[in-house]
Amino acid sequence: MKTISTLLLSAIALTPVGALAADKTIGFSQIGSESGWRAAETTVTKQQAEERGVDLKFADAQQKQENQIKALRGFIAQGVDAIFLAPVVATGWDSVLEEAQDAEIPVILLDRKIDAPDDLYMTAVTSDTVYEGEVAGKWLVDTLGGRDCRVVELQGTTGSSPAIDRKAGFEKAIADAPNVEIVRSQTGDFTRAQGKVVMESFLKAEGAGNICALYAHNDDMAVGAIQAIKEAGAKPGEDILVVAIDAVPDMHLAIANGEANATVELTPDMAGPAFDVLDAYWADGAMPEKWIQTESKLFTSADDNQAIYDMKKGLGY
Ligand code: AHR
Repeated sequence: MKTISTLLLSAIALTPVGALAADKTIGFSQIGSESGWRAAETTVTKQQAEERGVDLKFADAQQKQENQIKALRGFIAQGVDAIFLAPVVATGWDSVLEEAQDAEIPVILLDRKIDAPDDLYMTAVTSDTVYEGEVAGKWLVDTLGGRDCRVVELQGTTGSSPAIDRKAGFEKAIADAPNVEIVRSQTGDFTRAQGKVVMESFLKAEGAGNICALYAHNDDMAVGAIQAIKEAGAKPGEDILVVAIDAVPDMHLAIANGEANATVELTPDMAGPAFDVLDAYWADGAMPEKWIQTESKLFTSADDNQAIYDMKKGLGY
């Protein structure tokens, strides 16, 4: 029977309003708006701040690390009470985080991890991005049942932690399946437009009939690629299986329409746990674990994707 996961509903719902964060100022350095998921994270963070009476200073970095570093320095100069950072890439953060540490401003990482000593940030609220890739790869291996499969892969932003981890996780899941082979792999920068362009080049190079599955590091790239597959005269979801990550409304719709097969959900509510951590810290100095892990759930055609689409489409994606 098709059901909507209650976990999904609770993951999207706002967490209870905290009192302590009220009247605090928090700087949020967001990557940009490359994907529907990113838009939803921004919406949820702003909603959470309003609910909790937090003055949120929002800075859109337009995909550039240098803009994020500039924004962080601006927040430090303003003397904000805390900083949320969604880091576009994994490396190059040490100096600016040391500056925040010197100013005694706690920094919380949202949705992506960094390569830096972990005393430079308070905690990271993220999914297990290696596991997400593993779930996608395992779904493909199980679905194929031993059939030979030439896979094309659309990677996320080069140097970002989810692109690195989702690749590693998928490769781990197919390592013992000699019938599954990644034949092409290239970045689509997590965007719908690039997903389409790169898929077009894969189709041209391989021929649609020689590609059995697409693995995309996010749904937006998969949705762009689905368009390219259709324009090449093949049926996405049938001729070419499509599995990706995020569970944005358009991907649920694509699964409902038989044009995609599976997606691993990433909650856009990273800010709720981050605000809760700050409330606890400001209440009595409680320090959180270094990693607060969010849930990763697989959705397939066995779920009621039309109903999930209807429920999610108004949530800011
Ligand atoms: O860091 C999370 C990833 O960033 C999402 O999966 C992707 O859509 C976004 O751009």
